[in-house]
Amino acid sequence: MAEKLISAEHIYKSFQHIKALRDVSIDVESDRITAIVGDNGSGKSTFIKILSGSLRPDSGEIRIGDKKHSFLTVSDAIAAGIRTVYQDLSLDNCKDSVENIFLGDEMMRGIFLDRKAMREEAARLLEEIRVSIPDLSEPVRNLSGGQRQGVAIARALRRPGKLLLLDEPTAAMGIQESRRTVNMLKLLKEKSMAQLIISHNLNQVFEIADHIYVMRAGEILASVAASETSPEELRELILRREDERLN
Ligand SMILES: Nc1ncnc2c1ncn2[C@@H]1O[C@H](COP(=O)(O)OP(=O)(O)OP(=O)(O)O)[C@@H](O)[C@H]1O
Ligand SMILES: [Mg+2]
Repeated sequence: MAEKLISAEHIYKSFQHIKALRDVSIDVESDRITAIVGDNGSGKSTFIKILSGSLRPDSGEIRIGDKKHSFLTVSDAIAAGIRTVYQDLSLDNCKDSVENIFLGDEMMRGIFLDRKAMREEAARLLEEIRVSIPDLSEPVRNLSGGQRQGVAIARALRRPGKLLLLDEPTAAMGIQESRRTVNMLKLLKEKSMAQLIISHNLNQVFEIADHIYVMRAGEILASVAASETSPEELRELILRREDERLN
């Protein structure tokens, strides 16, 4: 049975004169993949940053269990089991996969870094999400898009969590890489990791999401079960609204 993990209610956020989010309410449930789709600049990343604790909303409420918050700090979000992979992946390109997975959260043996343990744990985490990186000591700048995404996800999952936030997990990836990433997300869902995914790719969203929110210009246009709509219907909805706006 799916239960409500997080509810964001009536969230507003402006950057000077730009109204990035206007009255956004979204529910995220356990054991499911929830998706947010929308055009460039519609407010998707801003919303993810509010849930991950890296941005404060101007108003609104975030409910986690029976607790109500007017904003989350990064440590509140982590304590609530929220794990985030940002749009830019936030990797240190000069460092290798192991160093990136443990960035800022290294395993120690006394006063020394426990490199052996970190290497083994990194290999285990990558194996768990079926990401193959033959040489873990290669700087991540030399890895493929899918491998880099894998390193970012392995870092996010280093500590057990309940909800994974992913901002454009397959942007700028080739067909094969993007297929691998989609399979990785399906696998995580089977392992009961709920996900909130942002994507431009409607076909891909329909392949993995259980519930879809459509955003436009900072507002939620639609909230629908994936089984009750189609990519064509959502595309039309977005276009129709755009026409209305232009007329
Ligand atoms: N730190 C900021 N300062 C000023 N404006 C910002 C800031 N962050 C976002 N914005 C603006 O807020 C609006 C929403 O941006 P956001 O990044 O949330 O959109 P998005 O839906 O993630 O777009 P994309 O699909 O291109 O990633 C945009 O108009 C953007 O320019
Ligand atoms: Mg974005």
